Amino acid sequence: MPVTISSIAHFVPQDIFPNSYFEDKVETSDEWIQSRTGIKERRFLMDGELSDMLLPAVQQCLSERGIGPEEIDCVIVATITPDNRFPSASATLQHKAGMINAWGYDLSAACSGFLYALMSGVGLIDSGTCKKVLVCGGDKMSSILNFNDRTTCILFGDGGGVALLERTEDKAIGIQDSILRMDGKGGQYLYMSDHGDGAKAPFEKYPEEVKEHYVIQDGQSVFKSAVVGMADVSAEIMERNNLTSDDIAWLVPHQANLRIIDATARRMGLDPSKVIINIDKFGNTTAGTIPICLSELHHEGKLKYGDKVILASFGAGFTWGSILLTWGIKS
Ligand code: COA
Repeated sequence: MPVTISSIAHFVPQDIFPNSYFEDKVETSDEWIQSRTGIKERRFLMDGELSDMLLPAVQQCLSERGIGPEEIDCVIVATITPDNRFPSASATLQHKAGMINAWGYDLSAACSGFLYALMSGVGLIDSGTCKKVLVCGGDKMSSILNFNDRTTCILFGDGGGVALLERTEDKAIGIQDSILRMDGKGGQYLYMSDHGDGAKAPFEKYPEEVKEHYVIQDGQSVFKSAVVGMADVSAEIMERNNLTSDDIAWLVPHQANLRIIDATARRMGLDPSKVIINIDKFGNTTAGTIPICLSELHHEGKLKYGDKVILASFGAGFTWGSILLTWGIKS
């Protein structure tokens, strides 16, 4: 029996920060940001942590499926910004949501986190270990941004989404195929050092003036790899499943840069109307972008039962991948 997404929800903070917010902080402009990235505004969480954003999404996701939190067997949180280094964000969320029968763990794969977590959840169900797995992806990127660095601070936002995975008897739907990739050589181009704890960076070795405890990126190197990586796996998953662009209802890509998304869609031969874009509203919410896009599409009534969807991502690591699924929630 296939494994399918049986419910989905998302949360974004209410406080909106347009591009103009950055104009008196760093040397930038609304025109530069929009033309180079496609971002118009993003949300930042003013009060609270990652689990405070995921909690309402968990509650909505379970309520729409009509089940209680005690029915969840496992909760996986894909994030690079957990509330604390430990305990895990999954443990915090498990407690806040009352998922008293769930175990769980955090998964670190940056912008590909939701895809990695989704396939981990499928594996847990396929192996018979779990029946209902809650897969969460989200980040509070504002907590790790250097607001003096114009090359990174304008790119990101806060938010997250939650998908419930379970078996279905309906063989026409579910998660059908995945390609997940990783190349650690890319680590030098996008990273955040772990000062203050950890074996690599004991506190006393890092004087106050060495500040790498925020996102550091060589944008052009990431851009070049992302354009190739995301397009490659998206085209490959179509080819090996004998799908043409007519068969695909939606591409749900990671929202890092509109130009990366456009390149992927072109490579797949997809009409732009089939490509989901919300980077203009939310920026790059890292592990949050794909579940937020899916949830918006579903709740707007656009995602129909039987639609073939390709999810695609690229992120720090480097990590990247694509997933092919047939949507199974009847709206
Ligand atoms: N406002 C104005 N100018 C800026 C700027 C900003 N916010 N950020 C950078 N610039 C400047 C640069 O300093 C550079 O100036 P110079 O020519 O005088 O040196 C110029 O704009 C061009 O910079 P460049 O880095 O070549 O721009 P770009 O077209 O590559 O766009 C990114 C920069 C970051 C938007 C782009 O590289 C990108 O999206 N990379 C991938 C990021 C990503 O996806 N990360 C998340 C993980 S997937």
